[in-house]
Amino acid sequence: MDFLELVRKRHSVRDFLDKPVDQTVLLSVLEAGRLAPSACNFQPWVFIVIQKMEGREKLRTVNDRPWFLSAPVILAVCCDRSVSWKRKDGKDFGDIDIAIALDHITLAAAEKDLGTCWIGSFNASEARKVLRLPTYIEPVAFTPIGYPASSSFNKVRKSLPEILHWEYFGGK
Ligand SMILES: Cc1cc2nc3c(=O)[nH]c(=O)nc-3n(C[C@H](O)[C@H](O)[C@H](O)COP(=O)(O)O)c2cc1C
Repeated sequence: MDFLELVRKRHSVRDFLDKPVDQTVLLSVLEAGRLAPSACNFQPWVFIVIQKMEGREKLRTVNDRPWFLSAPVILAVCCDRSVSWKRKDGKDFGDIDIAIALDHITLAAAEKDLGTCWIGSFNASEARKVLRLPTYIEPVAFTPIGYPASSSFNKVRKSLPEILHWEYFGGK
C-alpha cells in the first residue's frame, strides 16, 4: 500500500468486532514500534499488552469508556524515564519517542486492517497500579487494537495552506 494511502486509511476506531487478533499479526504490529527512531537511540519505550479478562476488567478504573475495553487487545505504551534522553536544558524527549513508536504501531495496525485509537485521557495513577509500574516507568498512552466494526470515518484536518509557512512564520 502506498504510504500516503496508509496514512489516510488510519483513523481512530472506537467500535470493535468480537474477533481475535492473531498473535503473529500483533507481534508484527509491535515490531513497527520497536523499529521506531528515538533520541540518542535510547529506546525508552515499554509495551504492555493486555488481553486476559482479569487485567482488562481492572482497566475500567483507568478509562471507563465502554469501547475502550471492547477491543480484544489493549496496549499500554510507557516511557522508561530512567532511559529517555534529556537535553542540556532538562527537556525530556521520552514523550516524543513514545509518540513516534505508537504512531508506527497505529500505522502498521491500519496496514493489517486493524483499528486503533490513541488514548491520552486516562487515570495515570490507576494505570500505574493496574500495570504494576515502578516509579521510573510512566504510562504515556493506551490504544485498543482490534478489527473495526465499521469502515466509515471522516478525516477532519486543516488544509495545507492553513498550516504551511514558507521561509518564515507568515511567509507565503
Ligand atoms: C496524543 C493523542 C491523545 C488522544 N487521546 C484520545 C483520548 O483520550 N480519547 C479519544 O477518544 N481519542 C483520543 N485521541 C484521538 C484523537 O481524538 C484523534 O486522533 C483525532 O480526533 C483525529 O482523528 P483520527 O485519529 O480519526 O484521524 C488522541 C489522539 C492523540 C494523538
